[in-house]
This record gives sequence, C-alpha cells and structure tokens, in this order.
Amino acid sequence: MEKLMIAGGYPLKGTVRISGAKNSAVALIPATILAESPVTIEGLPDISDVQILKGLLEEVGGKVHFDQNDMTVDPSSMISMPLPNGKVKMLRASYYLMGAMLGRFKKAVIGLPGGCHLGPRPIDQHIKGFEALGASVTNEQGAIYLRADELRGARIYLDVVSVGATINIMLAAVRAKGRTIIENAAKEPEIIDVATLLSNMGAKIKGAGTDVIRIDGVENLHGCRHTIIPDRIEAGTYIILGAAAGQGVLIDNVIPQHLESLIAKLREMGVNIEINDDQVFVGSQEGRKLKAVDIKTLVYPGFPTDLQQPFTSLLTKSEGTSIVTDTIYGARFKHIDELRRMSADIKVEGRSAVIHGPVQLQGAKVKASDLRAGAALVIAGLMAEGVTEVTGLEHIERGYSHIVEKLNGLGATIWRESLTTEEMDQMKNA
Ligand code: EPU
Repeated sequence: MEKLMIAGGYPLKGTVRISGAKNSAVALIPATILAESPVTIEGLPDISDVQILKGLLEEVGGKVHFDQNDMTVDPSSMISMPLPNGKVKMLRASYYLMGAMLGRFKKAVIGLPGGCHLGPRPIDQHIKGFEALGASVTNEQGAIYLRADELRGARIYLDVVSVGATINIMLAAVRAKGRTIIENAAKEPEIIDVATLLSNMGAKIKGAGTDVIRIDGVENLHGCRHTIIPDRIEAGTYIILGAAAGQGVLIDNVIPQHLESLIAKLREMGVNIEINDDQVFVGSQEGRKLKAVDIKTLVYPGFPTDLQQPFTSLLTKSEGTSIVTDTIYGARFKHIDELRRMSADIKVEGRSAVIHGPVQLQGAKVKASDLRAGAALVIAGLMAEGVTEVTGLEHIERGYSHIVEKLNGLGATIWRESLTTEEMDQMKNA
C-alpha cells in the first residue's frame, strides 16, 4: 500500500483536464445490464470504482471490453447471479445493481453496499420504490433479496431527495409495465446523464433534471454509444485548489453551469474566476486577501456536500470566521481533526465546522478517512509549509483519476511512497 507525500508551498500553474464523472460512471455501468445488445460508454474515469464494477458485470456473465476510457459491455449472456458479498461491499454504488438486475431479470440478490463512512446512509427510499413497482424486498444476512413476478409502473413520492434512489427507481422502472412517476426526485446532472443513456437505449423518460420524472416502461432496451459528462466534483476540487494554491490554473472539460453555487461562493470570497465555454480559469491569488464566507450544503443546484470538505481547507486561509454546515451528511467532518493537526483553527459544532482564519497550515502526517476528506487533505498539503504525508490513498483513488500525475502537471511536488511496516500495522489495527 502507498501514501501520498506532498511538499507544500509550490504555486500551481497550468492546465488540468477533468475526467468523466465518477457518480455518473457508477450508475451508467450497471445500467448497461438492462440492454440486450452491446453498450459503449465513452470517457469513463480511470478510477478503482470503475474497475470494481467492470469485475462485477463480468461475474454475472457480461463480456466487458475496457480500452483506455471507453467501455463496451455486451450484456446479452448475463444471468441474475447472486452477488451477496465480495466486490459489492467495496463501493456504495453497487446498490445500482439492484435496480438494473431487477429491471432486467425481475430478481436480484445484492450485498448491502459499502463506500465512504459519512454517518448513516440508509437505502429505505430505494426499497420503497422497488416495492411500489411490485417487488418483494427482504434483507437476509446482510444481502438484499429482490423478486417480482412482474414490475408495474407506480407513482412514487420520495420522502428524502436522494440521488441514489432516483436513479435506482429509474433503472427498475424503464422495463416495468406502464407509467412510473417519481415525485420529489433529485435533480443532479448525473441523473440527467443516466436518463440520457437509458433514452439512447430506447427507454421513454421525461423530466430528468426536474423534481418529477415520468417513465413509460418498454419491453426491451438495445445497445448504443454514450459519452459521459465531466466530473463536476473533480472540477470543483481543482477550482478550489486553484484558489488555495494557484497562480493561474485553467480547468478544462467542465460544464460551468454544474458548478454555479461553488463559483458564486468563490467570487464572494474575492477569488478571480473567468468562465469560457467548457473551461474555468482561476486567476492568481498572489497578494489577494480572501474573505471568510459561510456555506450550507444542499441538494443540487445548492452547494454540493462533496465539495464541502475540500472547501474547508481553502477557508483556513480566509480572513475571519467561516461556518460550513452540512445538511446532507451531518457527520461528514472526519477531515477536521486532520486539518487541526496541520495547525488549522477549526472546531465542529453539531452539523457545522467553524473555521477561524487566516492560518498558515503546516505539513503533518494525516489520514484520509474517505474520498473527499482525502481531497481536502491534498489541498491542505499543497497550501502547507513543509511536507505532508497522507495515508488512505486508496480512498482518494476511488474518485480522482491520475491525481498525482495531474497535480505534477500543474507544478506540484507530490509523489507516492510505500507505507512503512509500522504504518501497515497501524492500518490493520485501525
Ligand atoms: N437518504 C435516506 N434514505 C435513502 C437514501 C438517502 O435517508 O434511501 C439520505 C442520505 O442518508 C443522505 C441524503 O438522503 O442524508 C442524500 O443521500 P443520496 O441518496 O442523495 O446520496 P447517495 O445517492 O447515496 C450520492 C453520491 C454521493 C453524494 C450524495 C449527495 C454516488 C455514488 N454518490 O450518494 O457522493 O455525496 O449523492 O449528493 O452518486 C462522493 O462522491 O464522495 C459521494 C459520497
């Protein structure tokens, strides 16, 4: 196993190209199960979650060809093989196998999902949706058993606005009989991306991207080609990095409209940002003081919870007191103790982190406990004086494609090193 070593204080400059969206990819790949002929997805990110899902499709009999960033899945010989354990536990998004397998085979056995520990992450709304479509759903020894004689369209009101439940219900409903209406649906761009793929496969979906989605079930879905959207969270992370440690960073292959809440906040802080079609330029911050701001995470198009942790690192250098409140995951604060090790002046109060700045961060040994906490610590390491060691690299590699190479390309001094025996022992005992 490896850790990241970051020599801080070197200004970043240049262009970074954003990869395909992780949170789309992890739904698009299971969605291919629903077709009867090969589906090609272009522009996938090179991250471990994609590799794990590729392996899971192969376990159920899919023929998968993955070349660079393009994946072709031939789902014609897939079977509804139970997947109670193993790889499904390695990522949260394995729950999309439930909707896709149920839609195609009317039955599935899928282990409860893993993923980042952000406090409780129930899937009751997914289950409510499957049941409304006519499936029986039981939880037996850590695996969800789904079975339906037939799936019938239904009107489903989500009690919680959930990205995962919205997509999962869409996956099951596209091959149900009749019309499904999802009310209080999530509106994230990844939902539109999945609906676009399904529509290209022959599904009839209207309203994706609004809070009411109408799906008219069809008997069969066919293969197609689909290009994934750019990763708004990866883009947002590099935009924040540009503000935190940049001297002119161009972020290429972005849909700026997906990041309006972040860009507005950065401008409020005094960050110089220019937008041009599919690029965002973060101007040099040298000699500029950043103002403290408050943020509250909300469902899209509000400020994304996935950028809350990286943004907190930036706020350590702004003047005054900032308050970051996470209304989606009230316990998504595992990065705070690590930032404190790096001399940040932060405390957690309930669902909020209170940050006093500006503080010059200092290099330290820190641990990434989840994906976006890892991104926050990388940003902090690049802002810090001295060397920062970040363990938990495997979390970061679940979501950031070629992060070391991309940062080196911007002039950062960052490298991988093998864990020492002592560090390996500490990981095992943690
Ligand atoms: N919730 C329920 N019941 C449910 C589903 C969700 O109570 O059945 C709650 C959750 O506990 C949470 C809120 O509803 O408080 C929103 O959860 P949502 O279902 O929208 O989250 P998710 O689909 O599990 C996706 C992303 C997360 C991102 C959230 C919120 C994927 C694979 N994951 O998770 O991404 O934080 O939406 O935008 O798409 C990440 O990329 O680092 C990440 C964690």
